[in-house]
Order: sequence, then structure tokens, then C-alpha cells
Amino acid sequence: MTKTVIVTGGAGYIGSHTVVELYNAGYNPVIIDDFRNSKPWIIDRIESICGGKIPFFNVDCQDELAVKKVVENYTNVHGLIHFAADKAVGESVAKPVQYYQNNVGSLCAILNVMQSCNIENLVFSSSCTVYGEAADPAVTEETPIKEAASPYGDTKITCEKIIQFATKGEGQLKSTLLRYFNPIGAHPSAKIGELPQGVPNNLMPYITQTAKGIREKLTVFGNDYDTPDGTNIRDYIHVVDLAIAHVKALEFLDTAANNSAEPFNLGTGRGSSVLEMIRAFETENNLKLNYVIGPRRAGDVPMIYANPKKAQDVLGWTCKYTVSDAVKHAWNWEQSLGN
Ligand code: UD1
Repeated sequence: MTKTVIVTGGAGYIGSHTVVELYNAGYNPVIIDDFRNSKPWIIDRIESICGGKIPFFNVDCQDELAVKKVVENYTNVHGLIHFAADKAVGESVAKPVQYYQNNVGSLCAILNVMQSCNIENLVFSSSCTVYGEAADPAVTEETPIKEAASPYGDTKITCEKIIQFATKGEGQLKSTLLRYFNPIGAHPSAKIGELPQGVPNNLMPYITQTAKGIREKLTVFGNDYDTPDGTNIRDYIHVVDLAIAHVKALEFLDTAANNSAEPFNLGTGRGSSVLEMIRAFETENNLKLNYVIGPRRAGDVPMIYANPKKAQDVLGWTCKYTVSDAVKHAWNWEQSLGN
């Protein structure tokens, strides 16, 4: 019998790609999303890639009763992947209560539903932001969690803690805490990708919108860091590789011990500087990007990248796409969008 997987935030950037990979792996993904950070036509695009219908419910995950009603439609719910959350660091500083209410509130709601509906397996979207500025930039899952620099980061740390306690409490919960590095790129079909609302905060959509002429120029946030070219170093991972890791995390939970809440770093293990990303984008897409060097952005750490060994060894997962692939796919996606 096909295993159903509830995907909250399944119309979002990482969620939509994960729904496709779940479908490809033979699961029955069921999307819960209220489109606060996506558009309804993304569902049609997902279905066009999959070549089949994907059940979808327009529900706010803070609404526990509504989520429960969705879940009760299905008899064979194998697990739940919880993407639904607010994710803009700057906005979280301006609207901290909204961030705690939505990110922590939604998690509590879905944990209650999971317990009352006897769903055992939870895959949670966390972030490498939990490590803050680490002494060794190649972070492992043992790298200490740092005091968060933003409400957004603190909601991820708080949610991880809630899940760790919930996993040890009553019920059958097993969980993975997936700490994402910097997802970029889009589906190779260019049918789904990132849909930033308003001015993008993240580097890659800012680059693609600048190349398209929607933004006048990219500002590189500082070139006076203690890194080889002076710009920040991050671990940019293709969103499809990240999506596949969620399928692997679900498979892992099948055999995981009771009460386990396992963190995994999901990155490539390779760092790239902001200037290297600009160069890769220009080279792969054969164009010139208008950019200037500006001041540092508050809260940026100079250098962080994953030590992905645990995810490779335990989940049997490795990245198949390169940064070159990702910058091409990101540009194909951007070009496919209207202005
Ligand atoms: C940010 C968040 C992180 C969050 C992630 C979600 C911070 C400090 N971290 O990661 O918590 O999980 O987004 O997607 O905000 N850059 C420029 N010019 C730009 C935009 C970015 O130079 O216009 C640089 C940044 O300084 C950084 C790199 O590009 O060095 C990547 O930035 P971004 O895409 O915002 O990701 P992070 O800051 O790593």
C-alpha cells in the first residue's frame, strides 16, 4: 500500500521540490499550504512534473483542528514533513511575535495532530543558523548550538528543543532535524523554483533578478572578511539534492530507534564565496552581472559550511548536482517567470 506523507509548506521552495522527490520515490505526498509564501499555480507545476494528481489542502498549520481534519482523510499516514514556517531573518527582527507564533505555534499544532493520529515519523526543517559563528567553520552535528542572532534563528533552536522533548515524551514520535545550509537552484525542468515575495533577501534570487533587470544591481555585503577573497563563504546546495535528503530521512526513520531525534547537516561540504557565486553565475550563463561592493550586513558570519559525513554515512545521501548546475537551473527558472 502506498505510504502517505503529509507535507506542510509543500507549495514552498524546498517543499515543492520535496513533494516531487517523494512522488518519484513512490510515496503519496499530501500538501498542506496556505500560500503565504507561494502561489496556487505551483501545485499545477508539481503535478505537471509528476504526471499525476497531488492532493492539496489550503490550511494554515497553526489551525490544529483543520490540520487534523486533513490528516484524518488518510488511513496510511507514514510520516509528516514540516516545512511550513516564516523564514526571513530581517522580517523576524521587525516582527518577532509573528515568527514565534507561526513557527513555534505551527509545530505544536502538528505535534498534537501527530500524537492524536498516531503518526510516528517527523522530518523537521531546521537551519545551519543554529550553529551561529562556529569556532571551526566546517560544522558537524556536535558543533555547539549558539545563542541565536535573530528571532528566526531562535524559533529554529526552540523548535528543535520542543521536538527533542516531544520525542522523549509520551507517544511514538521519531524525528530528524534537518539543518539546511544554503539551498539554491531550481528543478531542472524549470517548472518549479524559488518565488521570493518582494525584494529577495537571499543571494541567488537577488542575482537572478539583477541579471533579468528587475533589480538594478547586486550589493555584495562586505569584502573585508578574513576569507581568501574577503567575501563571506557559504555552502550552497542544489534544492533537488536537499529535497532527496528528505526522502532519505523518512527511510532512516523506518529503522531508527524509538525516541530518536537525529540532527543532520545537509550541505555539500564545500564552501563558496559570494564572488565565486557571482563568477559561477556569469560563466555558466554567459552573461555579466551588475554588482557593487557594499558594507557588511549585520548578523552575517564570515564562513560556514557543512561537514556532511553523518548524512552521507547514516542516510546514504550525497549531492549529485554542482554549483554550476544550480546557477544554470536558477537562471532557467528566473527566465521562465514573467516580470
Ligand atoms: C540566511 C540566514 C539564515 C537562513 C537562510 C534562509 C542570515 C544571517 N542568515 O542565510 O539564518 O536560514 O538565510 O534562506 O541572514 N549576500 C550579498 N548580497 C545580497 C544577499 C546576500 O552579498 O544581496 C551575501 C550574504 O552576505 C551572505 C551570502 O550572500 O554571505 C548568502 O546570503 P543569504 O542568501 O542571505 O543566506 P545566509 O545569510 O547564509
